[in-house]
Amino acid sequence: MRALTVTQFLALILLTLALDNGLLRTPPMGWMAWERFRCEVDCKDDPGNCISENLFRDMADRLAEDGWKELGYEYVIIDDCWMSLLRDEQGRLQPDPSRFPGGIAKLARYIHDRGLKLGIYGDMGSHTCMGFPGTTLDKIEIDAQTFASWGVDYLKFDGCYSNPVEQMLGYPLMSKALNATGRPIAYSCSWPVYLGGLPPKVNYSLLGDICHLWRNYYDIQDSWDSVKDIIEWFSDNQDDLQPAAGPGQWNDPDMLIIGNFGLSVDQARSQMALWAIMAAPLIMSNDLRNLDSSGRAILQNKVAIAINQDPMGIQGRRLLKEKSHIEVYWRPLSQSASALVFLSQRTDMPYLYHTSLAKLNYEAGNYEAYDVFTGLTVKGLNATTELTLSINPSGVVMWYIYPVQQSKQAETHHYHHNKVLYFTEVKHHTVL
Ligand code: GLA
Repeated sequence: MRALTVTQFLALILLTLALDNGLLRTPPMGWMAWERFRCEVDCKDDPGNCISENLFRDMADRLAEDGWKELGYEYVIIDDCWMSLLRDEQGRLQPDPSRFPGGIAKLARYIHDRGLKLGIYGDMGSHTCMGFPGTTLDKIEIDAQTFASWGVDYLKFDGCYSNPVEQMLGYPLMSKALNATGRPIAYSCSWPVYLGGLPPKVNYSLLGDICHLWRNYYDIQDSWDSVKDIIEWFSDNQDDLQPAAGPGQWNDPDMLIIGNFGLSVDQARSQMALWAIMAAPLIMSNDLRNLDSSGRAILQNKVAIAINQDPMGIQGRRLLKEKSHIEVYWRPLSQSASALVFLSQRTDMPYLYHTSLAKLNYEAGNYEAYDVFTGLTVKGLNATTELTLSINPSGVVMWYIYPVQQSKQAETHHYHHNKVLYFTEVKHHTVL
C-alpha cells in the first residue's frame, strides 16, 4: 500500500476525531420512560402516568433534588409516543400538542437548568414501534437537525418497520448527521436487536465506530424471569459481546427495573450487581416520585456505581457456571482492584459456596474485600484463603477486592487461620 501524504494523514485523524466526540467515556446513567410508563397517552384518566412534559419535568425534579444527579444519573430520556401523528409543514417531527404544549425545546431548557441532559426517541423506519412517524432515509438529516435545534443531548434510535438494507444505510447516516449538527449528542442504536444481536450479522466493530451504545437483545420486562434471561443471554454470548465494549462504546442490556413491582430485594441487588459488572448503562425506568427505601439504596449504592463507572471501561465476564447453579462473575478495575459477583440461580435456600481467590485466577498476594451490599470489609485474605460464602436464592454476594501491602496485612495477623465464613443474611462474617 502507498504511504499516506501528510494531508491524507491529517484528514484521517480529523475523520477519526469527528466520529469520536468524547461522549460516554463511562456508561450513561439516567432515567428513561419506557419500561415503567410505556405508551400511556391517556392524560385524562391517568394524568400522573401519561407520556407528557409533566412526567419528564417531575423526573428531572426528582433526579436533581433527591441525590441522583450527584451520583451521575444525568440523562432524562423520552421514549416512544411523544410525537404527534403528523410532521409539521416543513416536514419536521413535532410533539403531541396536548401532552407537550410547551414543546421539546422548552422541556430541554427546564432539564438543562437543573444540570441534567435530555434524551429523545426516534425510529429508523417508516413508523416507531408504537406507530408514530418514523425516520425514513430521506428524513435522517432533518430529524438530526430538529433534535439538535431543540437542545437534545441523547438519541435512542430504534429500528421497527425497516429492513436490514435500510438499517445498514440509516444507522451510519444518522451518526454522520448527528455529528454534522455540531452538537454533542450521545447516540444509542437499537440496530443489533433487529439482526439477532450476534456476529456475523452484527458488525460490532462498525457499531463501536458509529454508536456510543447499542441494544443487543430483547426488551426488559418487570420480572426476575426477564432479568435472568437477559443475564443468561449476555453471558452465553460474552465472547462476541465483551470485547466490543469500552470507553465511548457500550453494550446495553436495557433499563434497570429496580423500584418497580417485579423484583425482590435480592433480585434487585442481582440486577444492580450484574449491570455494574457488565459495564451496562445505568438507566432506570421506575417512578422516582414513589420509590421504597430498599430500591433507592440499591440504585444509589456508591460502590456499585463506582464499579460500573470504572474509567478503564472493561466489561466483566462470567468466569464460572457451576453445576450447583452458582455463577461467578469478574470485572477488572483500575488500581489493580477488581469486582466479583457470586450469583445464585437456585430456588431453594441460601447456598454455601466454597472457593478461594486462587481458584478464581487471583495471583498470590494479600487482599481485602469490601462487600458492596452489606458494607462489611473482609480483611486478612490471601489467594489461598478458603472462602465459604452464603448466597441467597436469586441473590448475589458482590465484592470489591483490592490488594494490600504485606505490612498492612501484619496488622490483621490474628485472622490467619486461613478460612473465612461469610454469611450475608446474618450480616456478619467470621474469620476462623
Ligand atoms: C422497542 C424498544 C423499546 C421501546 C419500544 C417503544 O420495543 O426496544 O425499548 O423503545 O420499542 O415502542
